[in-house]
Amino acid sequence: MIQLGILGLGTVGSGVAELIQKNQETIAKRLGKNIEIKKVLVRDLRKKRPFIAEGKITDNPGDILEDSDISIVVELMGGEEPALTYIRQALASGKHVVTANKEVISKHGKELLDLAQKEGVNLFFEASVGGGIPIIRPMKQCLAANEIIKIMGILNGTTNYILTQMTEKNKSFGDALLEAQKEGYAESDPTADIKGSDAARKLAILSSIAFNTRITPDQVYTEGIDSVNLVDINYARELGYRVKLVAMGKRHSDEVEVLVAPMLLRERHPLAGVSGVFNAILVEGNAVGRVMFYGQGAGKMPTASAVVADIIDAVRSKNGNKIYCTCYDELNVMNPGLSTA
Ligand code: NDP
Ligand code: HSE
Repeated sequence: MIQLGILGLGTVGSGVAELIQKNQETIAKRLGKNIEIKKVLVRDLRKKRPFIAEGKITDNPGDILEDSDISIVVELMGGEEPALTYIRQALASGKHVVTANKEVISKHGKELLDLAQKEGVNLFFEASVGGGIPIIRPMKQCLAANEIIKIMGILNGTTNYILTQMTEKNKSFGDALLEAQKEGYAESDPTADIKGSDAARKLAILSSIAFNTRITPDQVYTEGIDSVNLVDINYARELGYRVKLVAMGKRHSDEVEVLVAPMLLRERHPLAGVSGVFNAILVEGNAVGRVMFYGQGAGKMPTASAVVADIIDAVRSKNGNKIYCTCYDELNVMNPGLSTA
């Protein structure tokens, strides 16, 4: 039995609790052991919390960070502090950490990864970029043989949702933002979404991996969508363009160019048709050519999918060996190409 402590039970935290319960059997088969949520840290003890028994909820971080039975800490509070302090404390006491916090990772990722290495534990952050889209591991592993030339993507679900609602439904910016907040896509303070800093944080994380360097959010030229209005969007549409908040990292011999800004994309551009909360990332490598990653970039269950996958990897790394499947379901294989008729 592996015991987890979760810091934060909002949109993503409650998705993680729900997914661990819903897919308990599948996860146990893959790992050969069960995962149990031992304690969850919240701010407000009075709120109703589905999927978690009342006795497991606490407002004291020490109940998780100082519990030696908890080997994996999952940080889903958001914001720089106290999340950073708690992550440091968890790593320093020999616990693996999983986080979806792009603010902490983009600003302090190197320090935290060094600390994790020193303590012989791991720090996982797949959900920090692209919500449910697998992108951190593919960049670090599957594309590791490439010199990355360029990354270009839509990295913020809230702004893409707003721009899509304005373009396709003629909705006002304010109404579309309210909807995105209701769906749980936006940050607790949506300024980071609208002003482009959330996308800049994600681009800093991706570019640091892609270009083997250290890029911080303050190095990214950043413009948000706060100055985009319905008139701009409608003119662009008449001319065959879509307005998108694009994040781009480009290598020029010894330099890397990193920027986030609203751009006009031709309708046939692969990113122009990415709508609603979906994100997409185009990566160009010198061996693979162009590859595109696409999926839901925010929201409860897609993000929980990435977080729980990281938890599973943390358990595997704890075992010291990578076990991909311990039990198999006996399933029939359908192969229409081999019909005997
Ligand atoms: P929410 O605001 O919905 O949830 C935050 C949770 O953390 C709440 O349960 C809150 O407690 C708790 N919390 C916050 N501050 C404290 C504190 N100081 N002490 C104790 N508990 C605290 O955030 P999300 O679930 O949307 O986001 C969590 C993280 O995941 C963020 O880093 C975000 O950027 C990232 N992320 C979010 C995505 C999304 O689609 N929402 C997608 C990808 C990443 P209480 O419930 O009592 O208020
Ligand atoms: N607020 C973020 C977004 C959440 O809208 O993309 C996912 O990181």
